[in-house]
Amino acid sequence: MRKVIFDTDPGQDDAVAILAALGSPGEIDVLGIVAVAGNIPLHHTANNALRLVELADRDDIPVFAGADRPFTRRLVTAEHVHGATGLDGPDLPQPSARLREGHGVDFIIDTVRRNPEKSVTIAALGPLTNVALAILKAPDIAERLEAIVMMGGAYFEVGNITPAAEFNIYVDPEAAAVVFASGADITMLPLDVTHGMRATPSRIDAFRRIGNKAGAAVTAMLTFSETYDLQKFGWDGAPLHDPCVTAFLLRPDLFESRHINVEIETASALTRGMTVADYWGVTDRAKNAVFVRSGDADAVFALLAERVARLP
Ligand code: BDR
Ligand code: CA
Repeated sequence: MRKVIFDTDPGQDDAVAILAALGSPGEIDVLGIVAVAGNIPLHHTANNALRLVELADRDDIPVFAGADRPFTRRLVTAEHVHGATGLDGPDLPQPSARLREGHGVDFIIDTVRRNPEKSVTIAALGPLTNVALAILKAPDIAERLEAIVMMGGAYFEVGNITPAAEFNIYVDPEAAAVVFASGADITMLPLDVTHGMRATPSRIDAFRRIGNKAGAAVTAMLTFSETYDLQKFGWDGAPLHDPCVTAFLLRPDLFESRHINVEIETASALTRGMTVADYWGVTDRAKNAVFVRSGDADAVFALLAERVARLP
């Protein structure tokens, strides 16, 4: 059983990642969810996290608010993709559950320290602000974590928010630089893998056909959030990003990866947030991340639907 803290900015694709994890109680023990500002401002991401635990009938899972802005930069959001609430699409009620007291960064630190060494994983689905703040405040947790498995970055697929950068890294590149330099065991699922995970009409329909509340919500979420991407790419389905993290936690064998050096560009205005990946090993920089390059899309979508089917 893997103990996991989700750090997230939900976001429809974050939502599917979290729901699939909540549908995997035998393999993933969700210790808590920490919201970060990203796709939309923090009050929406925190509220959406509460709506998700209620949708899954799991309001026993603690939800915390984390950082409301990047380290040094103005917050860049993505309402143009996710809608004004970040979770537009399904008609989810306002939550009756409340955020837990305390800062999400302290929850991360306390949880990692309270549990045995190498037993807690952070699944990071948004900008890395909270994760970096936790590491700066308590550097011991970098080594203590089992792993950080994150959606973010790109190399061969370059960028989605600028020509050079993926959204999560672009929003807070200084935070990403802290995380990648921390010595933690990092696995990144960049656009290079997520662009191959296309939510085609038949794959979305598989969630609808489950016939439960969660499946209906996922169908509405993905139908809403793919409008922008379908126009942008002209593909048969929009890329599904964050659920790759949950799929990787459950079935790493469905993915191909390489252990390499990845550095974060923070200085250049033109390429801010670029993940400079030494995929071909042309430098002697130390390897600091497992870079996931591709995965079995049919198997990943089947896995996600199977897990969402276990929810109410
Ligand atoms: C990432 O950016 C966000 O919009 C998504 O939720 C995902 O985490 C993809 O670049
Ligand atoms: Ca996200």
